[in-house]
Amino acid sequence: MKGLNFLPWILVLPFLVASCGDRAGDAGKGKRKWIIGFSQCNNAEPWRAAMNKALLMEAAKHKDEIQVILMDAQNDSAKQRNDVENLVTRGIDLLIISPKESTPLTRPVKKVYQGGTPVIVLDRDIDEPAYTCFIGAPNEPIGEMAGKYAVQLLGGKGKVVEIMGLQSTPPGRERHEGFLKGIAGSGLKIIYSQDAAWLREEGMKVMENALQAFPRIDLVYAHNDPMALGARRAAEDAGRAKEMKFIGIDGLPSEGVKAVLEGKLDATFWYPTCGKEAIQYALKILHGEKVPKRIDLKSMRITKENARAFLEKVGAPVPERIPGKK
Ligand code: FRU
Repeated sequence: MKGLNFLPWILVLPFLVASCGDRAGDAGKGKRKWIIGFSQCNNAEPWRAAMNKALLMEAAKHKDEIQVILMDAQNDSAKQRNDVENLVTRGIDLLIISPKESTPLTRPVKKVYQGGTPVIVLDRDIDEPAYTCFIGAPNEPIGEMAGKYAVQLLGGKGKVVEIMGLQSTPPGRERHEGFLKGIAGSGLKIIYSQDAAWLREEGMKVMENALQAFPRIDLVYAHNDPMALGARRAAEDAGRAKEMKFIGIDGLPSEGVKAVLEGKLDATFWYPTCGKEAIQYALKILHGEKVPKRIDLKSMRITKENARAFLEKVGAPVPERIPGKK
């Protein structure tokens, strides 16, 4: 899909509406569009790019009613704080934010919310529920599913390297806690656990250290697919990839699911981007509907067995089967 074709109107419309003074509540009745400010913690990571695409595509379906101003915080909490202030100064009717980190973004988000502007928080929660609603897939159950599957893959016993997402974010902490629950009572042991800040390059470095320190590793559990693939690359470079299994999280069709089909990952867990839902709930809020405080999206395990069915389910292209391969 040519998802970014409509970017120009997103960039141009801020200027078109800037001079209209009608209240937000009049939008949708032919007067003026609602302005949604979207503060994204970074545009660079594949999962973020997919979230932006889903959000902007959904927004494009409602372009007579809303326009979106997207700001990229470039993975910097201080910049994201400024972005939020900037959006408020530009006069938004609703804020959508996917925060880089919980604590530094709590106060700025609370200020917007308490100032009367509705706020939707996506994926990484803040320290207090000072927002209209939160949308995301619960991370502890995902970690737990990953732990249980690791036990199954290793037949109940083995040495695990864990490559963690940023520990100043709830998904990083909860994916760790969940995994511990999932392996509790089994013979699996985490022999090395390091924060790699959600980044592929960092995941690769953590794995290089683990490979040097441990002559035997049975499984790598990474909190996202980029880090799992970085770790896999390090193990391949060391000539040791075949000795171990790899589990990641995100399940993007073009990344984690592709890697599962290619045999580079043994499993990934779907982590829906919430982009489409963010716009759907934003519209409800702007139309004065009451929405739940938390909207939990579903995850699922993706392995070779169901990867093609998963791609069909999410409407992604399904690669042709290679003769002789599963
Ligand atoms: C992208 C990302 C995803 C991960 C999510 C957790 O920034 O690291 O890979 O699932 O954020 O918040």
